[in-house]
Amino acid sequence: MLNIASRMAASAEPPRIIVIGNEKGGAGKSTLAIHIACGLLHDSHTVAVIDLDLRQQSVGHFFRSRAAWSRASGAYLPMPVERLEEGSSLLGLSDEEAAQKLEAMIDTAADRADYVIIDTPGADTAVSRTAHGRADLIVTPMNDSFVDFDMLGTVDPVTLELTKPSLYAEAVWEGRKRRMMGARKSIDWVVLRNRLATTEARNRKRLDERLQALSKRVGFRIGPGLRDRVIYRELFPFGLTVADLSPTVRPVPVSLTHVAARQELRAIMGAIGIPGYAAAPEIEAESVADDEVVAEAS
Ligand SMILES: Nc1ncnc2c1ncn2[C@@H]1O[C@H](COP(=O)(O)OP(=O)(O)OP(=O)(O)O)[C@@H](O)[C@H]1O
Ligand SMILES: [Mg+2]
Repeated sequence: MLNIASRMAASAEPPRIIVIGNEKGGAGKSTLAIHIACGLLHDSHTVAVIDLDLRQQSVGHFFRSRAAWSRASGAYLPMPVERLEEGSSLLGLSDEEAAQKLEAMIDTAADRADYVIIDTPGADTAVSRTAHGRADLIVTPMNDSFVDFDMLGTVDPVTLELTKPSLYAEAVWEGRKRRMMGARKSIDWVVLRNRLATTEARNRKRLDERLQALSKRVGFRIGPGLRDRVIYRELFPFGLTVADLSPTVRPVPVSLTHVAARQELRAIMGAIGIPGYAAAPEIEAESVADDEVVAEAS
């Protein structure tokens, strides 16, 4: 069964419905969702964002802060198509009603925007499964740790054979199967490592081997990762990401770390099939005396 999943190759068409998912909490889903959304906005696409984390609403919160910061500073910031940011209208509905309503929301979003970005909660919910079944592309961030491998599957410690796919991998498989039977389209799945530390070369090699083995057996691609950098969270309260920084939008002094982070975002956008963002203008660093830069250089 999993061999068939691995044979479902990446589609040649650019993905239009991108679901950010991982049933493990705190893996970086919302962080990635806002960075991908802002990268697309700066590549002049229309973007709709659906926040299915009905409790935390991090993405909805981010875009409200963005609108407020833009008003207060007078700086122009591209925004997603309006009124599609909230999944909160699904609260209190039965699973079936919520799934139906979400299907309609996704249809509306796909009519109005080039790309629909869906952030999902760190748990298995009916709406999250529905969203996964509608994805052209699933992007799964995972923390750079052996502990987080279980959410993809377990492999034999010696042979690296898959001993058991995870519940999340099975849910993705189910989504792929439904999508293939319905729309006769495959779902591309990219796993990215998040919060990569600078100092773990030996551990990293073992993690890489394990991830490669899982990738073939569970059926996902491995994308470029994101380092652990303060700037991926320090711009959140302004409703900004590294994609937004420019000579007029720089609420914090821009350092070499920002330049490097922008490069990481470019690599991710390229890997998920959105190469246009690669042309985003370089930003100029004002300072180099930054703790993270020192750590990276060491
Ligand atoms: N690459 C990174 N560098 C530094 N901090 C990060 C990075 N990625 C995520 N974080 C921080 O880690 C925390 C968890 O990230 P995030 O909220 O994006 O995860 P999540 O998967 O959406 O969590 P949940 O399952 O609770 O929705 C946040 O404080 C976020 O700012
Ligand atoms: Mg989240």
